[in-house]
Amino acid sequence: MPEDNENDDLLFNELMEGKRKDYEVVKRYITRDGQVKTAILNMSYIHDSLTGDNFYLGQLIDLTEKLLIEQTLRKREEKYRLLAEHSSDMIILHKPDSTYLYISPSIKGILGYEAEELLGRKPHDFIHPDDLNVVRRNYQKVISELIPIRGTYRCKKKDGDYVWLETGLKAVLDEESGQVRELISISRDVQQRMETDELLRKSEKLAVIGQMAAAVAHEIRNPLTPIKGFMQLLSSGLQNYNPAYTAIILNELNRIETIITEFLSMAKPHSEKMQVLKIDDIVKQVVQLVRAEALFNNKEITLETAEVPGIIGDENSLKQVFVNIIQNALDAIDENGIVHVTIFSEKDFICVEIRDNGCGVPKELLPKLGEPFYSTKEKGTGLGLMTSYQIIENHKGQINIESTEGIGTKVSIMLPPHFG
Ligand SMILES: Nc1ncnc2c1ncn2[C@@H]1O[C@H](COP(=O)(O)OP(=O)(O)O)[C@@H](O)[C@H]1O
Ligand SMILES: [Mg+2]
Repeated sequence: MPEDNENDDLLFNELMEGKRKDYEVVKRYITRDGQVKTAILNMSYIHDSLTGDNFYLGQLIDLTEKLLIEQTLRKREEKYRLLAEHSSDMIILHKPDSTYLYISPSIKGILGYEAEELLGRKPHDFIHPDDLNVVRRNYQKVISELIPIRGTYRCKKKDGDYVWLETGLKAVLDEESGQVRELISISRDVQQRMETDELLRKSEKLAVIGQMAAAVAHEIRNPLTPIKGFMQLLSSGLQNYNPAYTAIILNELNRIETIITEFLSMAKPHSEKMQVLKIDDIVKQVVQLVRAEALFNNKEITLETAEVPGIIGDENSLKQVFVNIIQNALDAIDENGIVHVTIFSEKDFICVEIRDNGCGVPKELLPKLGEPFYSTKEKGTGLGLMTSYQIIENHKGQINIESTEGIGTKVSIMLPPHFG
């Protein structure tokens, strides 16, 4: 194109005058069929020392395609950047060693920093020490196995407080070498969600403790009756001292002590402790605890256990699950109804089955079971099943509910066995 010639002419003159040996210009050319193409023109002056001839060598390389690709790439990058700049999520580009390369402005709202402040630093300066190991392990996993990973952890804000973030991390590979070129992380603030979850867990626990308090009161009243009777007998002096009476009294007192210890251990705030447990023992204890009150209401609970392998679990959480589900079954039956609790072991799991011949759940409402606050009871919390699902999921198990309206319900809790 004529307007691109000016610079070329100037340089060519310099070449002829011997001021330079070669030069390069980018020019647009019009092809025979009228297309405009961009090319790089490489001109050099060559002196053949044998013949003494001088000549100029012009080389033309077509750049059209390359420019087109670059342009599309640039446009695409701008588009992504635009998305990142306006996203409420925090979008971060990391070097493979995790150093920040790019941080979207939304970091200001989430962590209080300006994006520029943190460039060149690394995430581990901000991650809560207790979460650091898990985050490091995930990071390594993304780099070595090239699979995207999502995780939650606490991150330090500019004001020093910590906030829960949920982050998805993905490796970006270099097209040619296949090596990890960069990592992209997308994080959002999940503080609110974590707090709500915690609150739900707590209020459900309080509800369960309330239910148990009633059961415990009955359990304590029962042994109190014989104790009172024997004490009256002893103090009346009508009878000679009989050691069998003291044995019975002590026995009943022991029972009361066990129940109270049991109740307190559940009501006390505790941290989860995963250990090898005998599920049949746990279920037995729970059944014993709620049986008295059930009998008082003319309801029956039967328990049938088989020899089963141990499991790995947190005793208090599992007790909470069984209290919940057995209590639901008791709530569902009328006077003279029966709840059958059966424990058996299959190849891959141990099953605790709680079957009742109560009111059942209408088919269309089955999917609602386990939703927070779904309850058909006047004093229900609608949190029991949700928490139970959560706890069993934490134990790598599963809960199945089968129910027919007017006939009854069967809840199966399946947990993986622990051999060893
Ligand atoms: N065994 C059962 N038989 C009939 N309905 C049940 C049974 N178990 C649970 N449900 C239904 O599921 C609802 C939710 O149970 P849950 O989450 O434990 O909350 P809550 O017991 O506080 O109502 C109950 O209100 C009840 O309608
Ligand atoms: Mg319940």
